[in-house]
Amino acid sequence: MSSLVVDPGARLRGELRVPGDKSISHRAVMLGALADSPTRVEGFLRGEDSLHTLQAFTGMGVQTRWEDDETLHIDGVGVDGLCAPGSAIYLGNSGTAMRLMTGLLAAQPFASDLGGDASLNTRPMRRVADPLREMGASITLQGDGTPPVHIEPVAGLSALRYRLPVASAQVKSALLLAGLYADGETVIEEPAPTRDHTERMLRTFGYAIATCGSEVTLRGGGRLSGQSIRVPADISSAAFFMVAASIAEDADLLLRDVGVNPTRDGVLSILRLMGAHIEVLNARHWGAEPVADLRVRSAGLHGIDIPAELVPLAIDEFPVLLVAAACASGVTRLRGAAELRVKESDRIGAMADALQALGASAEPHADGMTVRGGPLRGGSVQSRGDHRIGMAMAVAATAASGPVTITDSDNIATSYPGFVAQAAALGMRLQETA
Ligand code: S3P
Repeated sequence: MSSLVVDPGARLRGELRVPGDKSISHRAVMLGALADSPTRVEGFLRGEDSLHTLQAFTGMGVQTRWEDDETLHIDGVGVDGLCAPGSAIYLGNSGTAMRLMTGLLAAQPFASDLGGDASLNTRPMRRVADPLREMGASITLQGDGTPPVHIEPVAGLSALRYRLPVASAQVKSALLLAGLYADGETVIEEPAPTRDHTERMLRTFGYAIATCGSEVTLRGGGRLSGQSIRVPADISSAAFFMVAASIAEDADLLLRDVGVNPTRDGVLSILRLMGAHIEVLNARHWGAEPVADLRVRSAGLHGIDIPAELVPLAIDEFPVLLVAAACASGVTRLRGAAELRVKESDRIGAMADALQALGASAEPHADGMTVRGGPLRGGSVQSRGDHRIGMAMAVAATAASGPVTITDSDNIATSYPGFVAQAAALGMRLQETA
C-alpha cells in the first residue's frame, strides 16, 4: 500500500492535457463491442476502471488491439454477438462498469457473475436490479443489495417506463442498454439532468434515441454501426488542477481538450460562483461531445451556498470542491448530496475527516457538509482507498503550512494514471513512498 507525501507551495504554470474521460471510455468499449463494424477510440483512458471494462468484453469474445498507448480498436460483434464469459467478471473498483454491465448482461442469452474489490462490493445495486427485474430480468444480489451480482438468462425483456428515484446516469444508462434488447419502447424519466454520454454515443453509433425534457426514449431491436470516437480529456481529472491553480499563488494553467458537456460542467459553474478565474477557450465539438481549453489563474475564492441543481452536474468533483471551500474565505454549504455517501468511499465522511486532520472547520451532514475556510496545516490523512479523495487531498496539501501524507494512495490509478508525474511536472511537490 503506497502513500503520497505532498509539500506545500506549488506554483502551477504551464499546459496540461489530463487523460481521457472515464465515463466516455467505458461507453466506447461497450457500444464498440455491440456494433456491427469496427470502432476506433482515440484518447481512451488507460485507467484501471476502463481497463476492467475492456477486459470484461475481451472475456466475452470481443477482439481488441492497441494502435498506440491511447488508441484502441474494437472489433464489434453486434448486439447479439457476445459469448458467455468463461468465469466471473471482475470489475475492480468500477461502479460504472458494474451498473452498466448489469443492464447489458441482463439481456444476454447466457448467465454471468459480476464482482469487484472490497469497495465495489459495498455499492448499492438495487437501484439497477429493481427496474431491470420489472423488465423481466433475473438478477440475484447479496442480501444487503450489493455485488457480487448473478444474472440468469431470460426469454426476453419487456420495455419499461420508469422514473428514476435518484438522479443517476449509471442507472439511466443500465436501463438504456437493457432497453436495446427490450420488446417495445423504454422511457426513462430523470428527477434532475445527469450526464448524457450514453445518449450522445448511442446517436453517434446510429441508434435512434429521443430526449424530450426530462425523458429519454429508445425502442429495442435496433443495430449499432462502428465509429471513430475521440475521447475528450476528463473534466473530473482536470478539476483537481482547476482547484489547485485557483488556490495557488501566481498560477496560470492551460488545461487542453477538456470535455465540457453541459451535464458535466457543474465544477466550472461552482468554482466561478466562488470567484475562480477560469476562461473557456477554443470551444469546439469532438463528434457529439463539446470540448474546450480551460485557462485557470489564481483567485481569491469565497464561500457560497452550492445551488442544488448543480449537485448532479458536479457529483464526482465534490472532494476537490470541498478543498476549494476549505481554502476560500467564509462559509460554503453543500446540501442535497447524499449520493456522496455511496461512492467509491463515503466521500462526506472521508472528506470531513481529512479536512479536519489538516485543521479545517468541516462539519459533515447526512447529505452534505458545511465548510468554513481558514488556514490548513500539515498532517496525515486517509484516502480510504478512494482515488478522488487521494487527489483532492494532494491539492489541499499545496495550500497547507506543512507536508501532508496521504495514506493508501494506489487507487489514484483507477481514474488518473500518471497523476503524480503530471502534477510534479506542473510544479506540485509530491513523492510516492511504498
Ligand atoms: C457515472 C455516473 C456517476 C458518477 C460516476 C460515473 C457514469 O454515478 O459518479 O463516477 O459514467 O455514468 P451516478 O450516476 O450513480 O451518480
